[in-house]
Amino acid sequence: MEKKPRAFDAAASARVDRMYQNPDIVAQRVFVRDHLALQPGEAVIDVGAGPGLLALEMAADVGPTGKVLALDPSADMRSIAEKRCQDSNWITVTDGDATALPADDASLDAVVATQVFEYVPDMPAALKECLRVLKPGGRLLALDTDWDSAVINTAERDRMTKVLAAWRAHFFHSDLPGRLPRLIREAGFDLRFTGGTPVVNTSMNKDTYAGDVVFTIAKFAERKGGLTPDICAAWLKEMTDLDAAGRFFFSITRFLFVAIKPN
Ligand SMILES: C[S@@+](CC[C@H](N)C(=O)[O-])C[C@H]1O[C@@H](n2cnc3c(N)ncnc32)[C@H](O)[C@@H]1O
Repeated sequence: MEKKPRAFDAAASARVDRMYQNPDIVAQRVFVRDHLALQPGEAVIDVGAGPGLLALEMAADVGPTGKVLALDPSADMRSIAEKRCQDSNWITVTDGDATALPADDASLDAVVATQVFEYVPDMPAALKECLRVLKPGGRLLALDTDWDSAVINTAERDRMTKVLAAWRAHFFHSDLPGRLPRLIREAGFDLRFTGGTPVVNTSMNKDTYAGDVVFTIAKFAERKGGLTPDICAAWLKEMTDLDAAGRFFFSITRFLFVAIKPN
């Protein structure tokens, strides 16, 4: 069966908007912006900007003399981003795709894509576009997840393996980070930094990423991942029981890549 890219509808967009305001993901954006080190007056495109949280923060970094293009193919995501960014007229929220960026050749100082490339089928084409729109010396920052990096406490390892395998179907590429260094170099970039930042939660309370994503995984595994409702409910019960007993542990690593367009 041909694999199709996943569209973010109204419900998925609202979920991402809520989840990405969580302190774990706020800290993740600080990590991203530290590595991007945007300067006042710079022009940046946020590819797959989603609800516009990073775009708004980057707008503060570049200031009104700079420019932020927040691109997303999802109309529901764009409508959230437009509301969020309406007071900063140097942010433009725009429709588009990672493989056809609405920017002139060599016009931008930075291209950012956080948790987006795992949904983009043609990664060589997307990276070629990133290279095209960057000025010589401009930087690309990509942040992506490989769910094989998940460490989740369980007494039922086989069931955990099944649930995480079902969840991987959410992504077009569930294993992109391991392949990105080669793809980035083959596109013509000079890869300067590879690192990671983990999300580590010992509770599923509402202020944790796990407190949201565990429910999303269970729902997805049942509705679209092909697992029976019984398996998903039993997995979710184990997670909530572990949490109640103070034995919950969840960790996932986001991998970060910073590359430069050669002069
Ligand atoms: C998990 S969200 C991440 C949103 C945002 N980058 C962030 O970190 O807050 C993934 C986003 O990628 C967008 N996306 C999916 N396929 C895309 C593509 N081919 N080109 C550009 N964006 C895409 C989705 O619409 C969605 O908004």
